[in-house]
Amino acid sequence: MNPKIILVTGGAGYIGSHTCVALAQAGYRPLILDNFSNSKTSVIDRLATLMGDPPLCVEGDIRDAALIKKIFHDYCCESVIHFAGLKAVGESVKQPLQYYDVNVAGSLTLFAVMKDFGIKHLIFSSSAAVYGEEKEPPLHEESLLHPVNPYGRSKLMVEEILEDLYHMDSHSSIVRLRYFNPIGAHPSGLIGETPSGVPNNLMPYITQVAVGIRKKLSIFGNDYPTVDGTAVRDYIHVMDLAEGHVAALQKTERSSGLSTLNLGTGRGSSVLELVEAFEAATGKNIPYEIVARRAGDVAACWADPSAAQKQLGWGATRDLRTMCADSWNWQLRASFII
Ligand code: NAD
Ligand code: WQD
Repeated sequence: MNPKIILVTGGAGYIGSHTCVALAQAGYRPLILDNFSNSKTSVIDRLATLMGDPPLCVEGDIRDAALIKKIFHDYCCESVIHFAGLKAVGESVKQPLQYYDVNVAGSLTLFAVMKDFGIKHLIFSSSAAVYGEEKEPPLHEESLLHPVNPYGRSKLMVEEILEDLYHMDSHSSIVRLRYFNPIGAHPSGLIGETPSGVPNNLMPYITQVAVGIRKKLSIFGNDYPTVDGTAVRDYIHVMDLAEGHVAALQKTERSSGLSTLNLGTGRGSSVLELVEAFEAATGKNIPYEIVARRAGDVAACWADPSAAQKQLGWGATRDLRTMCADSWNWQLRASFII
């Protein structure tokens, strides 16, 4: 039997590329649609090495309805995993129109063509950012939704659009996944996260300090009411996240419905705990200084992942040490292969 083709928008990106590997391992054939605005075309060759076969790939934009129609004409595709989008919180404050255009209008274009072609299975990349500043851990899917920036609002808008689409067609099967803090990389070191410019996120900053690109880490605040004063987050290995998508896809194949699921580990780690775990896993010293809190940061945020466990039979298995070791392994190779 031919493997099922899954359209993976944004499949050349950080989470999308790891998910393509997990899909191939589970017997699916990913078809990547990506405009490479935040990824490199060379990832396709590296995916070919990891997957055994090159992934199908179309270069283009999710806002291009004619292109998506052509894809669904050319390939028999039952399911879509929709990663493509812009994800930098600070940038979204400066360029809200661009964020609503790509994240919301782009999603609408994709959903409209899916409807025309009768494609009813969809996994959507949402974010813990939909919970906003008032989050009180652990976060359950029913926790208050109050995004505090255009990025988070764009994700919540798409979640709400999907609710309306499900009510329009109750034979459809839609899973909205809210990711917490993905870090780590494929253990091969062939794919990983490549932020452009100065990293906003903690782990890429740590690995760049470790490799000597940056002098020291600035830790944003040590006066939070947490175990050591630094902020606490739910870091999850990107391969655990990728496997969560395969489990979500299999759920869409089993039954119709609309689900919203947190993908996290259920465990919080402070900034200092992550730094210490990185040093222990890699033997590298991470110089740091404590600076003022970053605007918009909450003290502590971690997931209640029990709904995903129950509905998908999925749970994160990789520990903080593995996340740190794999992030470092990727950082060491990244400058040579991308
Ligand atoms: P990423 O930037 O690495 O990947 C996104 C991919 O989408 C990139 O390859 C980019 O080139 C592509 N893309 C962007 N705009 C496009 C467009 N208009 N048309 C076609 N392709 C386009 O990001 P990621 O970390 O892999 O995140 C994937 C998804 O998960 C995003 O929707 C993001 O908002 C969401 N998410 C990410 C995180 C995180 O911390 N990384 C957390 C929660 C949710
Ligand atoms: C983690 C902790 C920082 C950098 C963001 C988005 C969220 C989601 C995941 C997309 C915080 C501290 C960081 C540094 C530091 N993305 N920090 N020094 O803010 O939890 O979540 O990424 O959906 O929407 O907001 O992740 O990695 O930026 O920060 O001290 O140089 O590390 O203050 O406490 P965050 P992060």
